[in-house]
Amino acid sequence: MSGAPAHPGTPYFKELGDVLGRAYLRYDFTRGTGQEVAFLVRVLSLTPPARVLDVGCGAGRHVVELARLGFAVTGVDVSPRLLEVAAEQARAAEVSASFFECDARTMPFDGEFDAVLSLCQGAFGLMGDDDPLVLRRIAEAARPGGRVAVTAFSAYFELAHARAEARFDPAAGIVYERTTIRDEQGAEHPAELWNGVYTPRELRLLALGCGLVPEGVYSVAPGDYAARRPGLDHPELLLLASRPRPR
Ligand SMILES: C[S@@+](CC[C@H](N)C(=O)[O-])C[C@H]1O[C@@H](n2cnc3c(N)ncnc32)[C@H](O)[C@@H]1O
Repeated sequence: MSGAPAHPGTPYFKELGDVLGRAYLRYDFTRGTGQEVAFLVRVLSLTPPARVLDVGCGAGRHVVELARLGFAVTGVDVSPRLLEVAAEQARAAEVSASFFECDARTMPFDGEFDAVLSLCQGAFGLMGDDDPLVLRRIAEAARPGGRVAVTAFSAYFELAHARAEARFDPAAGIVYERTTIRDEQGAEHPAELWNGVYTPRELRLLALGCGLVPEGVYSVAPGDYAARRPGLDHPELLLLASRPRPR
């Protein structure tokens, strides 16, 4: 990836989130939240009032939808501004949810959630070589028998649908992009993105390495989650896994 800077090794999205604030919810990919939550509730066999953790919850769109359905939801994120927006969204929807500012790599949870989600690059996929640490903390947060759902950008899609504005580093498995984001007032700000891209096999092996039992990896798109065999034409992969019960 000639000329592209290496991943900074920090939760770089924090600054972007703080700039975006409510403007995050203007992106088209946030429109499919209801479908995504309905699919996950069904496929993970979740029933209210199960305890759900959303890692990298951003503006809280999945948290609020899950809380509406009666789940006891906690959202964590590194961006104070996005967490404020998430709390505002919960108040507007008249639901209760808990939000904590926390780096996914240092989450203190130990087996207390029935399901742990990290969707749309909620920390996993944004942390470069620390992505496995994020997945480990996610696994630890699930109770024995609890379920895990994590999405990641697909390496196959990235190669099959190369974009002129993005630079793919085959050694790092990271796509680097310079882009422009708009704040709540519409003012433009330059931004850099380092998105990790994954194959289904990598996700399965990473899950195994964290002591999880992988249950499936599916090709999905925002607002179009389905138990679909992995292919080249969907931008994201959805890993479903569970934390084993002690024997
Ligand atoms: C692309 S947004 C996705 C937000 C949300 N999951 C959604 O689907 O709308 C990525 C989120 O992950 C958060 N994030 C990035 N790195 C993180 C980390 N190390 N720990 C916790 N949150 C992180 C960002 O602040 C941002 O809110």
